[in-house]
Amino acid sequence: HRHLLAIEGLEPPYIADLLDLAENYALLNRQGKTQRDLLKGRTLINLFFEDSTRTRTSFELAGKRLGADIVNMSVSTSSVNKGETLLDTASTLNAMHTDLLVVRHGQSGAPALLAQKVDAAVINAGDGTHEHPTQALLDALTIRRRKGSLEGLTVAICGDVLHSRVARSNIHLLLAMNSRVRVVGPPTLIPSEVAQLGVEVHHGMKTGLADADVVMMLRLQKERMTSGLVPSSREFFRFYGLDAEKLAYAKPDAIVMHPGPMNRGVEIDSAIADDPVRSVIGEQVEMGVAVRMAVLDVLARNQRRNT
Ligand code: CP
Repeated sequence: HRHLLAIEGLEPPYIADLLDLAENYALLNRQGKTQRDLLKGRTLINLFFEDSTRTRTSFELAGKRLGADIVNMSVSTSSVNKGETLLDTASTLNAMHTDLLVVRHGQSGAPALLAQKVDAAVINAGDGTHEHPTQALLDALTIRRRKGSLEGLTVAICGDVLHSRVARSNIHLLLAMNSRVRVVGPPTLIPSEVAQLGVEVHHGMKTGLADADVVMMLRLQKERMTSGLVPSSREFFRFYGLDAEKLAYAKPDAIVMHPGPMNRGVEIDSAIADDPVRSVIGEQVEMGVAVRMAVLDVLARNQRRNT
């Protein structure tokens, strides 16, 4: 593959190879070893039209650890503010001979559109409510490290599934790797089309979490909701917030995940988020760097092959 635009459509062996490579990078990162020759002379531009802490920083670290030249384009101070279109911005960056373009955008499909217009390998860092492929890869790597395999696991993805690109990418990846996937949330926050993907739909945490191996909580994305339809945080927490009582429905060794940023006291209780045994949220962030190193490595290698 020339780009990484979505998990949907990726072959399971391609996903498994990316995870294996990321596992190696995770080991090297823990040993403090870098591979600064791998992307020497390559240019990576981070182009984020939406806010980010984890994804942007970890792509920057990943690129630096592999020796790439990195430019973090600040969209808020760019000529986008003067009315320059997405495609004109892309053509400008293309003329600078960018090799890798990491794009986050509020519109679903924006990275795919850019991929048709630029020579660079485009990596989707989250587009609207569509996909966030590197998040699903880092989640899969975290699960695999904790549980040994993805096959046969029951994974409950809980909360605001409707607005979640993380949920969509995870559903595609986990089903491709033969996990059982449940989505859990109020009917207003579960889109009807997810049931057709082959997931179980639950509207209560008791049945949704029953015997789950993995409990993945999602952020309530109030900024994507029209006012009037925004649930109250207190009420949401009462029915869908993960606390010790609800986590007890899952397997005793179930792990707790959250892609971040978290709203403590809304979708997850602080005591659970900070539980040193059950919560793997810190490990997810750590695996984010390793997964992004693997993705940059593979796409740069594919580019070399094609030139
Ligand atoms: N999980 C995630 O995408 O976090 P950021 O928005 O901070 O990048």
